[in-house]
Amino acid sequence: MERGAGAVVGVDLLPVEPLAGATILQADFTDPACPPRLIELLGGAPDLIVCDMAPNTTGHRQTDHLRIVGLVEAAADFAVQVLRPGGAFVSKAFQGGETAALLKLLKQSFAKVRHVKPKASRAQSSELYLLATGFKGRINPLPSGERFR
Ligand SMILES: C[S@@+](CC[C@H](N)C(=O)[O-])C[C@H]1O[C@@H](n2cnc3c(N)ncnc32)[C@H](O)[C@@H]1O
Repeated sequence: MERGAGAVVGVDLLPVEPLAGATILQADFTDPACPPRLIELLGGAPDLIVCDMAPNTTGHRQTDHLRIVGLVEAAADFAVQVLRPGGAFVSKAFQGGETAALLKLLKQSFAKVRHVKPKASRAQSSELYLLATGFKGRINPLPSGERFR
């Protein structure tokens, strides 16, 4: 809101401290009812989607990798369904590398896809973010009246 956003809507499985000007839903993003609810609360197509979802870790590296990939792919799929043309998608990039399917989806849907390390991220940390900008618009527009599949 401080940077001039018209509306901010978020979702988390856990309770989140209230943020001035933002509406935070406590829900499971992978519940099919959740994405349409987010759009309804926002009141229109978003310009930016930021994904920082991460499941609880099990300690089994491959299982943890598959679970986080699943969440990021679900968020990216949502982004390419609902973003306003010209919009952007940001997600934490995961340690084991992106799947080919995710990168293909982003590269065909956005003008530019790159890895970035924000200033706020500690230099010693290996964390990186995936930044996709210049959304080209939905490849298959939704039938009129349908907001999200
Ligand atoms: C790394 S934390 C980030 C939280 C927040 N962005 C922050 O900086 O405090 C990951 C968050 O993803 C949430 N999460 C995991 N799976 C989720 C799901 N299916 N739907 C919604 N939120 C989920 C967790 O509850 C957790 O709060």
